[in-house]
Amino acid sequence: MTQPEHDVLKAAQDNLWLHFTRHSAYQQSEIPTIVRGEGSYVYDIHGKRYLDGLAGLFVVQVGHGRHELAEAAAKQAQELAFFPLWSYAHPKAAELAQRLAAHTPGELNRVFFTTGGGEAVETAWKLAKQYYKLVGKPLKHKVISRQIAYHGTPQGALSITGIPAFKQMFEPLVPGSVRVPNTNHYRADEITGVSGMTPEEYGFWAAERVARAIEMEGPDTVAAVFAEPVQNAGGCFPPPPGYFQRLREICDEYDVLLVSDEVICAFGRLGTMFGGQKFDYVPDIITCAKGMTSGYSPIGAMIAHERLFEPFKGGDTMFAHGYTFGGHPVSAAVALANLDIFEREDLLGHVTANEPRFRQTLDDLRDLPIVGDVRGSGYFWGIELVKDKATKETFSADESERLLRGFLSKALFDAGLYCRADDRGDPVIQLAPPLIAGQKEFDEIGEILRGVLTEAWAQL
Ligand SMILES: Cc1ncc(COP(=O)(O)O)c(C=O)c1O
Repeated sequence: MTQPEHDVLKAAQDNLWLHFTRHSAYQQSEIPTIVRGEGSYVYDIHGKRYLDGLAGLFVVQVGHGRHELAEAAAKQAQELAFFPLWSYAHPKAAELAQRLAAHTPGELNRVFFTTGGGEAVETAWKLAKQYYKLVGKPLKHKVISRQIAYHGTPQGALSITGIPAFKQMFEPLVPGSVRVPNTNHYRADEITGVSGMTPEEYGFWAAERVARAIEMEGPDTVAAVFAEPVQNAGGCFPPPPGYFQRLREICDEYDVLLVSDEVICAFGRLGTMFGGQKFDYVPDIITCAKGMTSGYSPIGAMIAHERLFEPFKGGDTMFAHGYTFGGHPVSAAVALANLDIFEREDLLGHVTANEPRFRQTLDDLRDLPIVGDVRGSGYFWGIELVKDKATKETFSADESERLLRGFLSKALFDAGLYCRADDRGDPVIQLAPPLIAGQKEFDEIGEILRGVLTEAWAQL
């Protein structure tokens, strides 16, 4: 190891505070340190190559090492490095807002920029509260969201999040958020207590739980429902057919805003520019971030239906909310260049054409005794691991700990695949490669997973 490499690793050990990380895991070993990326691959500090099976963190849509995005950032920094969107505009934010609005479904034309996804969720909740105050329904403030769903870490977004383990340490959080069942059809029997529901029946049942929750809370107190097109945490739950159509009807019936949290699902992850387009529904608000710049610079957005902006148009009313770096000129310029790549390379078409191949590659792993379910959409897939395929018995907390943290995460990484082994719900492995990936990368993913999952089963 060279001296500069040693210095970096020591600085990481001594001074970095990693996110969502047990630092104890690195007491005896170095912190994996990634130094560069090229296409669908990243390289660590020792020069070892890894397939980026998670696009960083569902972010790097166009792949690593794109010079034109770096150049767009440099050019913008020279021209206008910074100006806020507080009472002033700058050209790149305006152009990006217009371009996003052109891609959104319906009349979702009003773009409020943030620096990331959690802030976009936070912004959506605050807008929902103020909107209803302005239109004479001041009691409407509560939100409904789904079990095990992750919506971010600011205290409002965390309150909306449905993962108790992430919340307990920070209670009391923002009051007024309520959980309903998610769209995990694989576990529908356990969730409903009824066996053998078809996906359509389960979708209807799950959507009805939202209606019941609104009634329980009182429709005049509920402002919004937050749902991802495909729920990430728990392992890529796609919506059953008809689910979002029924949810849309319910939201309209009770005058509740439907917020589509597309922090992962927007920007081609599912093969459509916005996630809801894949499942044919039009929300009132979209929250997005991650893939907007493919991660070459941070930005997020809350995109609202024009009617939600109406009460803010006149008099002395304003949305007293903002972020210094929201809509940063450099990030906006990079986002525009990123969208140029999407168009030039037809990334949406590429994902749509390749989705069946990716799915097939992962479905081929179903012969392994540990693979219980394979589910997802576009370039966003989860593999649920089980102890017993026939009964769908899952692992105990101890076994899950040993399997995921003790073995799988490291074994997959050592084998050259960066992806996620997750236990926020039942144990899953999640895959979401850059959108430029194709069969060659799918095959590599399939081969590494087969080897490591076979070994995991043998170790159990
Ligand atoms: C659906 C969803 N919402 C919100 C967030 C939070 O985004 P950020 O980490 O950019 O704050 C995430 C992050 O993964 C997410 O997946």
